[in-house]
Amino acid sequence: MGLAIGSLALPSRVIQSPLAACSDLPFRLVARRRGLGFCFLEMVSAQSLTRANEKTLRMLQSSPEDRPLGAQLIGCDPGMMAEAAALLAERGFDLIDMNLGCPVKKVVSNGEGSALLKDPDRAERVFRAVRGAVKSLPVTVKMRKGFQDPSGDEAVELARRAQDAGLDAVTVHGRTQAQQYSGRADWEAIGRVKRAVKIPVIGNGDVLSAEDARRLFEVSGCDGVMIGRGGLGNPWIYRALDAGLRGLREKPPVPTVAERKAALLEHFDLERRHLGDRQAALNMRRISVWYTQGLPHNKAVRVAVCSTMDCGEIERLLREFFDRLPADAPPPQAPVLLTE
Ligand SMILES: Cc1cc2nc3c(=O)[nH]c(=O)nc-3n(C[C@H](O)[C@H](O)[C@H](O)COP(=O)(O)O)c2cc1C
Repeated sequence: MGLAIGSLALPSRVIQSPLAACSDLPFRLVARRRGLGFCFLEMVSAQSLTRANEKTLRMLQSSPEDRPLGAQLIGCDPGMMAEAAALLAERGFDLIDMNLGCPVKKVVSNGEGSALLKDPDRAERVFRAVRGAVKSLPVTVKMRKGFQDPSGDEAVELARRAQDAGLDAVTVHGRTQAQQYSGRADWEAIGRVKRAVKIPVIGNGDVLSAEDARRLFEVSGCDGVMIGRGGLGNPWIYRALDAGLRGLREKPPVPTVAERKAALLEHFDLERRHLGDRQAALNMRRISVWYTQGLPHNKAVRVAVCSTMDCGEIERLLREFFDRLPADAPPPQAPVLLTE
C-alpha cells in the first residue's frame, strides 16, 4: 500500500523528514540504497534562495539517484515564498513543502516556521501564493500541532485552510513550539487533523520502530508516516517500517556490525565526494555519533573523530572501532537527544 500526494504516487507510506544540517545528499543516498523511497532536502530559506545565496544553492545539490525528492521552504512573505517555490519547481524537485514547524527562537522572531501557527491569515496567504506559483507539482505543508495551545486546534484550523487553498497534503508533528522536543508527540492531535480534512495527513513524531508506526496509524488514522531522528545512523529503518505496515511475516534482518560499518564508511565517502574533505571531516563529528549510538566504547572514538581534520585518520578510527565490536552489538538506536 502506497501514498498518493497530489500527482505523486509513492510506493511506500514511510518517508524521511527534512532535517537541517543532516538530510544532505550523502545522507539521502545512503538511505535510498537501503530502502528509502521519498525524502526531503533540509529546509531552505525563501529569502536566501531568491537572493541566490551560495550556501543555500549548495543545499539544493542532488543526483539522478536521489529521486523522487521534496524541497522545503521556510519564510513568511507570500510573494517571496511564491518566487522561491517557482525557482525550486524549475530545478526539477518533485514536491514543494512549507515549514510551519521550526521552533528555533531566531526563526520564530522573524515570524517564520512555527510562528505562522499564530497567524493563520498570513499562513493562508502564503499557501495561496505558493499554490498559485507552482501549478504542476504537489504542494504541502509541515506543521507542529500548535504554538502553545496543546489542544491541536491550531493545526486543525491551518490544515483546513491548507486544503481550501488547494494544498495536496499536510504533515503534523504532534508537539507544540513551546515543547520544542520535550515530552511525547501527541498522536491523538494528528488524528484530530485527519478527521478535519480530506487531503492526506502524514503523522510525525517519535516513530522509531515498526510497532510505533503501526500504533501511530491506529491512533490517528493517518495516511503516511514521516520519520525524523529515527533515520539518523539507521538507514535500514524505512524497510523495517514498511514491512511492518504491510504486515509482512518476514521482517528485514537487523543489520550486522559489518553492514553498519559499510554504511558509515559509504556515508563518509559520499560526504568527501560531494562536499569535499574539509566539510566531510566536520560533518563526521555529527555523523559518527549517529552510527555509534548505544555501542560499547563509543565515547573514545567520537572524541578522536572530533580531534582531527585528517580524513584518512577518521577512516582508520572508524574501521578500528567497528572491527573491535562484538558480533552481538546492540542494534542501531536513534540519537534521541539531538534537536534542531
Ligand atoms: C537536527 C534536526 C533538524 C531538523 N530540521 C528540520 C527541517 O529542516 N524542516 C522541518 O520541517 N523539520 C525539521 N526538523 C524536525 C523533524 O523533521 C521532525 O519533525 C521532528 O524531529 C519530529 O520527528 P521525530 O520524532 O521522528 O524526530 C528537524 C529536527 C532535527 C532534530
